[in-house]
Amino acid sequence: MVGMGSRSFVSHLECSLCHKRDAAREAHNLCECGGPLLVRYDLQRARAEWRPEQLGAAPRSMWRYAPLLPVSDPRHVVSLGEGWTPLIKAKRLGKRLEAENLWVKDEGLNPTGSFKARGLSCAVSMCVELGLRKLAIPSAGNAAGALAGYAAAAGLESHIFMPIDVPEANLVECRAFGAHVSLVDGLISDCARIVAERKAAEGWFDVGTLKEPYRIEGKKTMGFEVAEQFNWDLPDAILYPAGGGVGLIGMWKAFDELEQLGWIGSKRPKMIAVQATGCAPIVRAFETGQARSEFWRGAHTIAAGLRVPKALGDFLMLEAIRASGGTAIAVTDAEMLDAGIELASTEGIFAAPEGAACVAAVRTLIGNGFLKGTDRIVLFNTGSGYKYLETWSTRFPRSAVSEQDKLGGLITPR
Ligand SMILES: Cc1ncc(COP(=O)(O)O)c(C=O)c1O
Ligand SMILES: [Zn+2]
Repeated sequence: MVGMGSRSFVSHLECSLCHKRDAAREAHNLCECGGPLLVRYDLQRARAEWRPEQLGAAPRSMWRYAPLLPVSDPRHVVSLGEGWTPLIKAKRLGKRLEAENLWVKDEGLNPTGSFKARGLSCAVSMCVELGLRKLAIPSAGNAAGALAGYAAAAGLESHIFMPIDVPEANLVECRAFGAHVSLVDGLISDCARIVAERKAAEGWFDVGTLKEPYRIEGKKTMGFEVAEQFNWDLPDAILYPAGGGVGLIGMWKAFDELEQLGWIGSKRPKMIAVQATGCAPIVRAFETGQARSEFWRGAHTIAAGLRVPKALGDFLMLEAIRASGGTAIAVTDAEMLDAGIELASTEGIFAAPEGAACVAAVRTLIGNGFLKGTDRIVLFNTGSGYKYLETWSTRFPRSAVSEQDKLGGLITPR
């Protein structure tokens, strides 16, 4: 019986480029060829021993899919309640956009306020299992917050490298979680270089995007959940705000695994990567028919998570987008802000700018006929708007004499 605290069907690691195999129960970063490693499972056995009905008794977190997660011993799982987020029908927004089947998967409800919790819950659990105690990450912000939180919960050291202009919430949460924080005058790519240069001497395990095989396993549970929440009948399109693209790659992997289990058929959603016009390397590569992206110079956008000038897994993202008949689309920062306020005021969902980007993109894709008004469309809101108060405040500046000032004046005479 597979259920709570159930065993994993993990079998080995496989390089996504050269397909060389590695042992699953050892610490690995990239393959020697430079390719990201992926976790593989004994799906034949899983198919024989695991059934969707068993999920009825499974935990209401992403660990409900423990049989297809890499942690061998359930005692090593570090969980703060990540995953199993709501899939909300956006009726009022859908009406405005003439999309009658529009859904929002709200990842803002995760611990640490973003979907990064899934990846880091899985990666930190594996670090516990493999006995790794010092973890380092280059991050646009939310992955850092998630690593710091899960490392704190596990009693491990976290070493964080983030751009100097990272959202305030990310800096404050990392410090509160007791992480070692370095602010870098540059982009996530500069942060990654520093981790790469120092990790051997410091004895750090690099949990940077796709530098290890486990974060993607946590992220793929978004795909399992969409499938389960739609009763194993996948939607027509998924819009995902892509930086490093791990969520998109992970969901694609999840669908493949579910098909091999026999839980879904061969139908796939159109996978749609949404980027910012100020940093759109995947959009450019998609439009010019390239298999890999080129480093985007001068990357800038208010959506900190989309400020990724070059993704290690760009080829995997582009493969999934093309194989699914999807597309890649960029939206401006102003469109993101407008769309985020529209989402908040019509649906009560206060999104991260990255999630808001999907709302702007769906409007364009319905307008130009790429998506139909009857399609079942899922927008990923990858984070909470509460983590970006300085960004949203640009649309809602406080007046000089705000209510709070008056109140402050009453309580503490000035
Ligand atoms: C809120 C948010 N959305 C989207 C992304 C992009 O995610 P990925 O790197 O998996 O493409 C990030 C990454 O930092 C993020 O923080
Ligand atoms: Zn390889």
